[in-house]
Amino acid sequence: MPKKITREFIDGLPKAELHLHLEGTLEPELKLKLAQKNGIDIGQTTIEDVRKSYDYDSLASFLAVYYPGMNVLQTEDDFYELAMEYLKRARQNGVRHVEMFFDPQAHLTRGISFSTFINGYHRACIDAKSINIDAQLIMCFLRDMPAQFANEVLEMAKPYRDMILGVGLDSDEHHNPPLKFAQPYSIATAQGYHKTMHADIDQVDSIEHIKQALEIIEVERLDHGTNIVENQDLVDWVNQKQLGLTSCPLSNGFVTNDMKGKEVVELMKQGVKVSINSDDPAYFGGYIGDNYEAIAEKYNLTAEQLVIFAKNSFETSWISDFQKETYLKEIDDFVEKF
Ligand code: ADE
Ligand code: ZN
Repeated sequence: MPKKITREFIDGLPKAELHLHLEGTLEPELKLKLAQKNGIDIGQTTIEDVRKSYDYDSLASFLAVYYPGMNVLQTEDDFYELAMEYLKRARQNGVRHVEMFFDPQAHLTRGISFSTFINGYHRACIDAKSINIDAQLIMCFLRDMPAQFANEVLEMAKPYRDMILGVGLDSDEHHNPPLKFAQPYSIATAQGYHKTMHADIDQVDSIEHIKQALEIIEVERLDHGTNIVENQDLVDWVNQKQLGLTSCPLSNGFVTNDMKGKEVVELMKQGVKVSINSDDPAYFGGYIGDNYEAIAEKYNLTAEQLVIFAKNSFETSWISDFQKETYLKEIDDFVEKF
């Protein structure tokens, strides 16, 4: 195990990414290229100007840039290219397994058919095998839209059921509690989907929302969710059930001015299975390796602590026990050789 953490160590460390929005991997270069190809006016004509438009300091101000940007995604090939670009970058960052979010409603509401995006994303998951990544999809409901729309999305997804591993909940959490989605989550459970949901950082009702997510919706993971540190009963619950928390340091730094590294380390010390992820890497300044590097530098983490994050990521992923064993051994072999 190295004393000083290097980028080579971070990128070589096998890891799973469990909190990644495919639509959040839209780099300015690809956005501009697709805008020109599809004849979409995005309001900017240079990469520099697109980059400057990636300017926000809260979840709401981020989402106001994020959703309109998706307009450039029009054809199945566009979705494929977006996903493939991410997967190649993830591989360079040591990702071996990824469970990727996508937002059907952000595309359906602008007239793109379910088959267009799911087939593009699924084709990328198949081709990921050739670069040695195991890639899966998680379908998110937008929590600022009605629950009935989420039910309709589940209905539309039926022909593609075997392409989708689980369901999630994202977008603006303010006034949109988990309980609003009790019905779609109960339908998803009956259909055998895995379940996760966002518990964004420092929300007005963070603790109440997390209680609903854990006790009523019975999610298997919390995306972000580090506010549980404020409530020992919740920490005990998460520990007892061995639930995963998917933290995203760089994105936390944008929407709250704090990476929340102190909370992440405190939770890890209490045995919570926290992992490090990139959320929306094109919008929040970096991919998963950059997130490992940022939190390690700012909070003086040891190589042993980064290894725990990497192990947590596989342990809380939705792969078989056999696959988990295989990846954990890959980590041990890497550490031994390094
Ligand atoms: N959609 C994309 N990124 C998100 C985030 N960090 N929180 C909520 N919704 C999102
Ligand atoms: Zn997210």
